[in-house]
Amino acid sequence: EQIEKGGYDHFMLKEIYEQPSAILDTFRGRLLSNEAIIKMAGVEDNMKKFLAADRIIIVACGTSWHAGLVAEYIFEDLARIPVEVEYASEFRYRNPVITEKDIVIAISQSGETADTLAAIKLAKSKGAFVFGVCNVVGSTIARETDAGAYTHAGPEIGVASTKAFTTQITVLTLIALRLARAKGTMSSSEFRQHLIELETIPSKVEEALKSDAYVQTVAEIYKDSKNCLYLGRGYNFPVALEGALKLKEISYIHAEGYPAAEMKHGPIALIDEQMPVFVIATKMGHYEKVVSNIQEIKSRKGKIIGIVTKGDKSVKELADHVIEVPETLECLTPLLTTIPLQLLSYHIAVMLDKNVDQPRNLAKSVTVE
Ligand code: AGP
Repeated sequence: EQIEKGGYDHFMLKEIYEQPSAILDTFRGRLLSNEAIIKMAGVEDNMKKFLAADRIIIVACGTSWHAGLVAEYIFEDLARIPVEVEYASEFRYRNPVITEKDIVIAISQSGETADTLAAIKLAKSKGAFVFGVCNVVGSTIARETDAGAYTHAGPEIGVASTKAFTTQITVLTLIALRLARAKGTMSSSEFRQHLIELETIPSKVEEALKSDAYVQTVAEIYKDSKNCLYLGRGYNFPVALEGALKLKEISYIHAEGYPAAEMKHGPIALIDEQMPVFVIATKMGHYEKVVSNIQEIKSRKGKIIGIVTKGDKSVKELADHVIEVPETLECLTPLLTTIPLQLLSYHIAVMLDKNVDQPRNLAKSVTVE
């Protein structure tokens, strides 16, 4: 097992550090920026269906559901296709309206999650075309779907999903970009710009990983917190949810993710000097609005940890700590902002002496409902 961990103390840390190469593997052979094309057989072969679809319904559980939420923003923003994101466990039991003109995208690292599989079977029985985004090659979901795209993240052993999440987002971004081009919702120069930027993501993830030492310092300060709040807006709202899930899973600290503007509709009541609030406040997208949310937290004496774009000034003035990530296009920021949040949960769990790779009560794949 020590050899499999490749010199890291835990699989989770190894998998966090594998993300630059995992993302590269995800777009290997698919993203051809020189020729300005995206090639994905599962999409190409079914292009007519994708273009005729009234909407896309994404079904998934847990972290994969969070990747689905990011995809909702990307598909609607870039390809102008209406998207609904559903917990597979809710979808399968609520008599959903599904037609032959719907495309269902099922996202699953393991490809074995019982609820996601049941949702796929239901969608197929109603005549929808079902596309799978899985990591495990030959898994049940990969076999049960009509077509699909693998994430090629390599084996993920840690129960807390890390590289599966970022590679799922990568695959879904590629699909959204391909459809945007086919639908003409994006100009060829915008498309090319996105491809070029996407190609820089592995090295930018590498750079984001360099915050590790500082993240450890932050972890040390907040490791004894009883509650934490994670806030983000737009593309980074799902990242806030994912950050909170990671902390809950492996450190057993109660954490909640929220869209930053929803704070004033309830969670703001929780804020006092004991409450660390992790706020994703990248320069791209709703920056000024997030800064004003930060001011609201500060005036209630909450501790603010900002995840900011490199060189940020406004948040730095207000926050107790800032963790920088490189600048990128707004739709790609989740691939970077998620990195320090993964590291933070990891270090807190290690400091609290928890079983990082196999947290209590959790299984890597949930094959029962
Ligand atoms: C993530 O850290 C969790 N362990 C869990 O939420 C997981 O993402 C969920 O069970 C879905 O699994 P899947 O992607 O294999 O379907």
